[in-house]
Amino acid sequence: MQTVIVTGASKGIGAAICKVLRSRGVRVIGVARSAKLLQEGDVAGDVSDPETARRVVTQAGDSLVGLVLNAGVITPVSKVIDTDIAQFKATYEVNLFSTLSWIQAALPALRKNKGRLLYVTTELAGMAGFACYASSKVAMNSMIATLAEEERDVVMLAVSPGVVATDMFGAASELGKSTLSKEHQEFFKAMKKSDEVSQPETVAEVFTKLILSATPDKSGSFLTWKSPYIQGLLK
Ligand SMILES: NC(=O)c1ccc[n+]([C@@H]2O[C@H](COP(=O)([O-])OP(=O)(O)OC[C@H]3O[C@@H](n4cnc5c(N)ncnc54)[C@H](OP(=O)(O)O)[C@@H]3O)[C@@H](O)[C@H]2O)c1
Repeated sequence: MQTVIVTGASKGIGAAICKVLRSRGVRVIGVARSAKLLQEGDVAGDVSDPETARRVVTQAGDSLVGLVLNAGVITPVSKVIDTDIAQFKATYEVNLFSTLSWIQAALPALRKNKGRLLYVTTELAGMAGFACYASSKVAMNSMIATLAEEERDVVMLAVSPGVVATDMFGAASELGKSTLSKEHQEFFKAMKKSDEVSQPETVAEVFTKLILSATPDKSGSFLTWKSPYIQGLLK
């Protein structure tokens, strides 16, 4: 049986990916802090604790074929000038630095099994208030491109799910209200009404295909939701 580790498994996109993978007969180890929201076989823990990464990878064992680095936080939503640097560091810890422990722990098994690693990134850029979130995520796009050169036996991808109807999207639209311009509020209001917002289940179907069968020619790529390759997987 194949095993896939999914971080951020308690809700939103991560929970949906776990569900689809399990429905395909894959053994999944989901990780998140909210123990009550996890499924049997999952592990409760903070992704930024390297010990959790080592423990989960050991538990996955020789059958590990995929690592989905999905856990993420969007806060603080505020202008750079108003943001405490400690808040930047805390967000970078989850969205960027924590991934290194998971990657280092999982690589030996992923190499052996010619597996895949998927980082759930964003295409949000240049929007006032989101510098901390966006910069922490796009740094990983570069990391994935480099890792793909270094680790030829593992397919590495950074993929944006576009805009998805989860708690994070709800928070993004609410948090900026007091600090950001009216244009931002209008943007989120319009977005909510448009068909640009995907459901987590739709994203999970695509991400499941990627973690089980993305081919080496795509390794190192940063793929947006609207890219032809990703849209092709929706069919
Ligand atoms: N929603 C969107 O429109 C959108 C767009 C682009 C990219 N993304 C990315 O997609 C990923 C999933 O987002 P989502 O929308 O599904 O958000 P969500 O519903 O807020 O879920 C976030 C997940 O991350 C987990 N998490 C956060 N910090 C953690 C920590 N320190 N340790 C362990 N788990 C942690 C949460 O679990 P616990 O709180 O239980 O720990 C939860 O399971 C994120 O990386 C996000 O940046 C989302």
